[in-house]
Amino acid sequence: MVDQHTTDGRRTAGRDFDVDLDDVLEDDSDGDGLFDDLLSGEPIFENKEVLRPSYTPHELPHRTDQINDMATILVSALRGDTPSNILIYGKTGTGKTASAKFVSQELEKTSKKFDVPCEVEYINCEVTDTQYRVLAQLANTFIEQNKAFIDERVESLQDLADRAREDEWVLDNPDLDRDFETLEDVENEIESLLEEKSEMEDVPMTGWPTDRVYSTFFDAVDYVERVAVIMLDEIDKLVEKSGDDTLYNLSRMNSELQNSRVSIIGISNDLKFTDFLDPRVKSSLGEEEIVFPPYDANQLRDILQHRSDTSFKPDALSDDVIPLCAAFAAQEHGDARRALDLLRTAGELAERDQADLVTEEHVRRAQDKIELDRVVEVVRTLPTQSKLVLYAITLLEKNGVRNINTGEVFNIYKRLCDEIDADVLTQRRVTDLISELDMLGIVNAVVVSKGRYGRTKEINLSVPIDETEAVLETDSRLGDIENVAPFVQARFEN
Ligand SMILES: Nc1ncnc2c1ncn2[C@@H]1O[C@H](COP(=O)(O)OP(=O)(O)OP(=O)(O)O)[C@@H](O)[C@H]1O
Ligand SMILES: [Mg+2]
Repeated sequence: MVDQHTTDGRRTAGRDFDVDLDDVLEDDSDGDGLFDDLLSGEPIFENKEVLRPSYTPHELPHRTDQINDMATILVSALRGDTPSNILIYGKTGTGKTASAKFVSQELEKTSKKFDVPCEVEYINCEVTDTQYRVLAQLANTFIEQNKAFIDERVESLQDLADRAREDEWVLDNPDLDRDFETLEDVENEIESLLEEKSEMEDVPMTGWPTDRVYSTFFDAVDYVERVAVIMLDEIDKLVEKSGDDTLYNLSRMNSELQNSRVSIIGISNDLKFTDFLDPRVKSSLGEEEIVFPPYDANQLRDILQHRSDTSFKPDALSDDVIPLCAAFAAQEHGDARRALDLLRTAGELAERDQADLVTEEHVRRAQDKIELDRVVEVVRTLPTQSKLVLYAITLLEKNGVRNINTGEVFNIYKRLCDEIDADVLTQRRVTDLISELDMLGIVNAVVVSKGRYGRTKEINLSVPIDETEAVLETDSRLGDIENVAPFVQARFEN
């Protein structure tokens, strides 16, 4: 079988004959197959991809000011000047990445149109999180471009050489060429270009000294005249993991580059990272600052409305769905990602119910589901010691204890540690771990005064107990603990 392209560009396995889906469904005389019900239900979605985080929207309502600010700064790149460095910050889900990507696409489009050499390199520092990797990735991108540039140049020189071989006059005619006097000159130039190309060596993903990676990157950017805009998304992750060396090196490059210019756009949802920067880096990176404020409920409504027009079938949403999603997400510090997740999940729940209308009820269930997914993820990734503390709290609650105090948690915790041969932390450390669980929203710990007995913490689980317990027990070490009832019994004896 051969691959064929359907009209919408997807690849499908080629078939020898056409099958009409409706015929197959109608022809199903053996009763309903596994997928029949699902397929025959009127689908809720027109195009679910539009609601996924990976989709870059072409229009970003309520971000016009920020987008215009970025464009005003970056337009100097199209005039061949160096744009100021930009620091973009705002809470999670406020459209920083989406806006920056949108602006860089527009910038590259315009630079192609007017044939000005300007390139934007996007790096997600959560993934590419060391100086070595950032510089290597940039070096290899520019090396790739330089090779393509050489290929193009060689091709046109070969063409010139071919014509000159037929007619020497081609090189004498100043209208056709001004750079070469003889055919030999052209051939020499081709040869030296090809040699340069063969010397361009990609940076391996590990192994070189950082100096060498840096100088390879430097030479690669400077190989031709251009303005390179380097976009470092989640820049705080880079600084957290490997300090500010990368930023220091990038920000002082311009004084040494001969042909090209570099400008940096840093994006972060945590402004505190600038406290860890060298003052020179801090002032250079923050030449321009653009703030992305959280969206309010009305703005989220517009954003959802916009995206739902292309993602849902007409009339698939009942009137209160979008306002409710917007209201929920506005409570979560105006996070558009959360709003879109809610809307998509609500749609999926409706689809699963085989309903033809997404309702308020679906949104509420979606809110619970997303919240539960978050809790499961947080609990699953806790360090073992925190899991033990949390496990102790769930065991106490399961046995009907409310307003648990730190001492009670500590007693059960100690027994659990004994059982699995884990180190026992001090009560002071366990108290800290409880505070961390409080900050993560897993437990609620309030300090209450007990009169002359001093103050104590009252701890309650703030997440669903059965799910929490189930996630904890998927940890192989905790799963080994058998018959936990005696531990809790012991608490009453204490
Ligand atoms: N104004 C907007 N219009 C349409 N969609 C938006 C808008 N703002 C954000 N979004 C969408 O919301 C989601 C989150 O946005 P984005 O990834 O840009 O957030 P962010 O500010 O980069 O967050 P983080 O700090 O977590 O990286 C994306 O799916 C994005 O397409
Ligand atoms: Mg982002």
